Amino acid sequence: MAGAGPKKSKVFRYLKYIFLAVLCVLLSLFTVALLRTLSLNVNVGLQLAHWEETNHIGLDLSQRQREEMLTRFKEAIRIPTVSYSPTDLNTTALREFSSLLRKAFPTVFASSLVQHEVVAEYSHLFWVQGSQPDLLPYMLLAHIDVVPASESDGWEAPPFSAKEIDDFIYGRGTLDNKECVMGILQALEYLLLRGYAPRRGFYIGLGHDEEVSGFNGAMNVARLLEQRHVQLSFLLDEGLLVVDGVLKGLDGPAALIGVTEKGMATVKLSVITAPGHSSMPPRESSIGILAAAVKRLEDNPMPMLFGQGPERGTFEHLAHKFNFPLRFMASNLWLFAPIVGRFLALKPETNAITRTTTAVTMFNGGVKYNILPSVAEAYVNLRIHSAHSVREVMDLMEWTVGDQRVRMDLVEGFDPLPVSSYSETSFGFQILKKSILDVFPQLTVAPGVCMANTDSRHYKDLTTGVYRFAPIWAKPGDAQRIHGINERISKKNYEDMVGFYSTLIQNCDVRTLPESHSGVHEF
Ligand SMILES: *[C@@H]1O[C@H](CO)[C@@H](O)[C@H](O)[C@H]1NC(C)=O
Ligand SMILES: [Zn+2]
Repeated sequence: MAGAGPKKSKVFRYLKYIFLAVLCVLLSLFTVALLRTLSLNVNVGLQLAHWEETNHIGLDLSQRQREEMLTRFKEAIRIPTVSYSPTDLNTTALREFSSLLRKAFPTVFASSLVQHEVVAEYSHLFWVQGSQPDLLPYMLLAHIDVVPASESDGWEAPPFSAKEIDDFIYGRGTLDNKECVMGILQALEYLLLRGYAPRRGFYIGLGHDEEVSGFNGAMNVARLLEQRHVQLSFLLDEGLLVVDGVLKGLDGPAALIGVTEKGMATVKLSVITAPGHSSMPPRESSIGILAAAVKRLEDNPMPMLFGQGPERGTFEHLAHKFNFPLRFMASNLWLFAPIVGRFLALKPETNAITRTTTAVTMFNGGVKYNILPSVAEAYVNLRIHSAHSVREVMDLMEWTVGDQRVRMDLVEGFDPLPVSSYSETSFGFQILKKSILDVFPQLTVAPGVCMANTDSRHYKDLTTGVYRFAPIWAKPGDAQRIHGINERISKKNYEDMVGFYSTLIQNCDVRTLPESHSGVHEF
């Protein structure tokens, strides 16, 4: 027993030092975290810098022009340019839409600065010539087609009526994506009418089959530009929008500019067993084996990758606008990414930010109640996080299912799109940011990841700067209107869209970005 006493106190002494050391480490971590939180860069560096002067033709619309503009927009909504499948489009409506464009924007079609061509019968490509050919052109994209809509689904107004209710215009395509088609051309129409001539040339591409992959419209427009060896400074398409009250804990509305899109894969799972009579079943049926595989996929989601893609930039850019506990964590993702990720994973809408999602969308097996089916099949649709690839996701699925009897075939798929730069030297991102803040000074601008896919993915060989944004004002529940029921846009929002494109086009006339004098943080 003797000697135990001093030995014990020695251990205690060491423990004390270890404890103190741990405390020191924790304290310094905390101090660093606190300093980061307090010194939150508002990321205004370039906004305060001196920008080269460009044209500033304001819109200053008369009441008559306002009405005219809304009338044209409503006409566009009333044409049912529906894409049902890649081979089933309403071509009558698409033709009618082409005529509407000519009628609605006579100055665009008559201007000597504008060249127009029809591509793949129903898509449109415009080239607006700049006075300084040495400036790299940019491109604005939008699409003419819409997804189907039926009044019987519960619309408050018929989906192709463009009916006005409480200052909102209702109709399929009001948010996706005729507000951009008409908004871009309307801005150009007014600018040309006021004698504007751009310094930097630009293209406008209007696809006609985006909702069914853009393999005819966008793909052919992109191919045409590639054949002409066009290089673009940047490209802007639909995608993300202004979120107002949608992100919990965020103080005020934010504009999210999509800098990439998730990838996608559709995987077919199949199990083939010997057919037989249901009176002498084996222990496991094809359906049972497949059901177990599907269950394992749902029970074991793909790994949490929050913080490893540009979603990290979203939180860091918005950090100063979050209220307290989130502000502390969002500005210290180096420490808190796992916690924030777990929190986001609680809801399906935000879970999609944190990982590759797995959705079982079809399940088929069996033809008769007393026959054991020899084949059972299921389809799984995956949306791939920026830090994953199709190959990695397939491997992970095989590992999770862990059953050789379940065959997996990749039906179609593509990797996540490259991440476009959102640094202070990125021309496209900074021009967009400035234009957003010029029109909507109350917004905070941040990069984001687009969960859905757009026509812009066909243009990735023309530029590294692909951005996805339109100033659609989305309040809680509005995102569900896109491809859902009661799609609508406020009249004010549509007018603002025209104002935004008008400002953007003129801002693009700067030759280069100003020098940043903030010198801080580049996320
Ligand atoms: C196609 O569009 C035309 C109008 O452009 C419309 O009259 C017709 O009903 C549409 N067809 C379908 C199947 O919706
Ligand atoms: Zn769309």
